[in-house]
Amino acid sequence: MMDFTMKNIDGKAISEAVNKETAAEVEALKQKTGKVPGLAVVLVGDNPASKVYVGSKVRKCGELGIYSEKIILPADASQDELLDVIKRLNNDPAIHGILVQSPVPKQIDEAAVVDAIDPDKDVDCFHARNVGRMMLGDFSGFLPCTPWGVMQLLERSGIETKGKHAVILGRSNIVGKPMTALLSAKGADATVTVCHSRTQDIASYTRSADIIVAAIGKPEFLRGDMVKEGAVIIDVGINRVEDPSSEKGYKLVGDVAYDEVAPKASRITPVPGGVGPMTIAMLMKNTLRAFLKTING
Ligand code: GUN
Repeated sequence: MMDFTMKNIDGKAISEAVNKETAAEVEALKQKTGKVPGLAVVLVGDNPASKVYVGSKVRKCGELGIYSEKIILPADASQDELLDVIKRLNNDPAIHGILVQSPVPKQIDEAAVVDAIDPDKDVDCFHARNVGRMMLGDFSGFLPCTPWGVMQLLERSGIETKGKHAVILGRSNIVGKPMTALLSAKGADATVTVCHSRTQDIASYTRSADIIVAAIGKPEFLRGDMVKEGAVIIDVGINRVEDPSSEKGYKLVGDVAYDEVAPKASRITPVPGGVGPMTIAMLMKNTLRAFLKTING
């Protein structure tokens, strides 16, 4: 097997650079105001992947000097219980950012929960007000963590998006939809195609793509014969697949068949160590932005 790691976009290193900037700003603001940003992370239930993500977010807060609270509700918690928690956090001056880890159990109406979060504390950028502002081209507020992280990966790797054809696989509210807005925005200037589960002949689109963002939630969906030579591949997928040879019994694979696609790609994000750490880094940035707003108005 050839080694294609020199093509890798190193999300770990780039996220560390972003986190270093955040930590320095947090420290400077602490000196100036005597206060630090605070993030509340709420998990309902015990989805194993969600538990890992929530743990990583809280740990990163600690590393960057950000105060954090982890709130865990049982899997059978009611909508009202969760809304009570959000109300308390909305009114807590030590908390500048609130995040409810998705997905939530089926008795909970996720849209109503997002709506209940104070938009000024909506560090996920899920609230209609913040999504709306972003769609209108105002990027000064919160930006959705994963799509923003992808844009940072591209920018900080010197990858040109202007005039390029970007194909996004997946139309989720969390990645696909906001990704189209950021890539096609003035300044980024890509031409964007969105493919999804009902798209006919996805390969006919991906083969003409200069940049592919795979966020479709299907393990190794993008194969080697679906990409053109020299394409830039961003793999947002994190799928757990059975692996009896590993200690945990599973391994993580992306939405891209790395071994097939890497030989053709000019640059590619690995899984893990690509987009994942960027999502958390941008969450920290949003938390800092939320805090700054309470100081500067
Ligand atoms: N689940 C998967 N990604 C995310 C994210 O960025 N934020 C939240 N709240 N839940 C998620």
